Amino acid sequence: MKFLKDLKRTHYCGELTKSQEGQSVTLMGWVDSRRDHGGLVFIDLRDREGIIQVVLDPNKNETSVCKSFRSEFVIALTGTVKVRPEGMINKHITTGEVEIHANKCEILSEAQTPPFQADDQKVSENLRLKYRYLDIRSQRLQKNLITRHKITQFVRNFLSENHFIEVETPILYKSTPEGARDYLVPSRVNLGHFYALPQSPQTLKQLLMIGGMDRYFQIARCFRDEDLRADRQPEFTQIDIEMSFVDQDDVIKINSELARQLWKQVKAVDIGDIPKMTYQEAMNRFGCDKPDLRIPMELVDVSEVAQNCGFQVFDDTVTRGGVVKALAVPGAGNFSRGQMDKLTSLAKQMGAKGLVWIKADANEELSSPISKFFSPEKFKEIFKTAGGQKDGAVFMVADDFDITCAALSQIRIQLAKELNLIDKSKDKFLWVTDFPLLEYDAEDRRWVARHHPFTMPEDESLEIMMKGQDSEFHQLKAKAYDLVCNGYEVGGGSVRIHRNDVQSTMFKTLGMSEEETQHRFGFFLDALKYGTPPHGGFAWGMDRLAMLLVNTDAIRDVIAFPKTAKATDLMADAPSTVERAQLLELGIRLNQQAEKNLQKNKDS
Ligand code: AMO
Ligand code: AMP
Repeated sequence: MKFLKDLKRTHYCGELTKSQEGQSVTLMGWVDSRRDHGGLVFIDLRDREGIIQVVLDPNKNETSVCKSFRSEFVIALTGTVKVRPEGMINKHITTGEVEIHANKCEILSEAQTPPFQADDQKVSENLRLKYRYLDIRSQRLQKNLITRHKITQFVRNFLSENHFIEVETPILYKSTPEGARDYLVPSRVNLGHFYALPQSPQTLKQLLMIGGMDRYFQIARCFRDEDLRADRQPEFTQIDIEMSFVDQDDVIKINSELARQLWKQVKAVDIGDIPKMTYQEAMNRFGCDKPDLRIPMELVDVSEVAQNCGFQVFDDTVTRGGVVKALAVPGAGNFSRGQMDKLTSLAKQMGAKGLVWIKADANEELSSPISKFFSPEKFKEIFKTAGGQKDGAVFMVADDFDITCAALSQIRIQLAKELNLIDKSKDKFLWVTDFPLLEYDAEDRRWVARHHPFTMPEDESLEIMMKGQDSEFHQLKAKAYDLVCNGYEVGGGSVRIHRNDVQSTMFKTLGMSEEETQHRFGFFLDALKYGTPPHGGFAWGMDRLAMLLVNTDAIRDVIAFPKTAKATDLMADAPSTVERAQLLELGIRLNQQAEKNLQKNKDS
């Protein structure tokens, strides 16, 4: 086995073309595959930039070691770039017109047979995660990580050109509430005290505005202990932005421009102007606050026609202030009972009590399990009002507004996927504005901030909040906005509270005692007393942005070392146990439940 000694790589495999014909090159990389042919050994040599075919003669002294080459061996070789004979050209790869005739080669490192071939799509995700470094050899992950790099490069340049200053903020810090649990870090030198890892740099970036930095950004790591999903990781990255002396429109404008230029740069497409829609309109029309506008179907409120129709569920719901909403789905007219049952259970999972449907055949003959409750005219009227068409179906849910929206929104997404109704040719952006300021947490019996507690209420709502009119709290609106793309919330932000009295009232509104407020945010309230510019900002979900730009729907595809849905790292086995002595030093003793868990893991 050789070390590099005086060998110097001259080119990447993937950059060789006819223009280097006749040149002597030195390449280094992995043996992707090996074939023996007519006394010669052919290998595909791979590095980050691509693959090139190499021809070696095992009977020559300088290249005889090629006899031992195996898949994934790391080798170095020197050879001449030759144009491949006619008929041997591979049009599918950029290096396909040439090959290297090696005159010297050596093995830099041998490899065991890997547990899977990097580009084999059939391998289970858990195995891939355990050997993540092998998966990173796949073209898919290499491409994704390179695109991610291009995005951060672009963003840094764009923001710098627009007068933003990149500032790093601490990771060992204090709780920054964004609606999740904190990850805590015990302090050895301050026993019994804990740092919290930031859920976002929210308070810190506001303090930078108070500090006069005027425009800040950071590619910031955030930590949130919350339920994970396909688009959520316990640690993730934000492109975090804050600006002084601005209002909502200024923040929206600069971030729209960032999106436009980024899409042009990475995807070579013009996304045009990004439309705006209020939260209420998004809920009415799509049943959710991050609608996928690539799906053509919309929800219709049919409460009026459905009232007094004879179907008790509808009548009662409308009478007690609920709604009946409908979704017309083209091509669902021939759905089987089994398909309908599945959709009904989906609606029930979202909290609905059931799902009603009306199907139409090619002659627009209508049928429904509840047809007996309606006169034929009423039945037709509901179907038409909902926008039903021949061969299609109309789905209806009657309930409180939120439940109706949640159920039909899920059905809209599910059926769009099943029936191929998503127009994937374009990415569809949307700004959603005028979010509710507060949400009632029925379990804790208190109001919580819908975005975060530093968000400025809209002008009228501000007055109501300051007066403490809690009967009106449910309808308060915030100067908060989300950027949505293809049904993902790709970023969110708000105009901030910059007055000490408003911030104090906000904490009070959220049910925090004077003492708790002081303990958690005293430093921040103090800062607001020393001259605070009006300010606002935004944070992009960097990982989700990368997902959209590489066209994947799994966040793990754009993170080098992601965690599983259980927040574990299968490769390094984290989180893991630590020495008792280390715990002792931190003043920590495990309780019975933790001890039991350790024992269970040891036994299994
Ligand atoms: P918010 O909580 O909306 O706002 O977060 C901003 C964006 O970060 C992304 N995101 C996530 N991505 C992956 N995994 C997660 N667990 C996760 N959680 C959030 C989303 C989201 O839109 N400080 C405010 C921003 C501000 O007001 O300026 C904040 O953090 O794409
Ligand atoms: P039931 O009278 O409960 O047997 O319901 C008759 C049909 O109405 C079933 O298909 C239910 O799924 C449906 N259904 C019941 N409650 C609701 C509701 N709130 N909204 C929509 N459909 C419902």
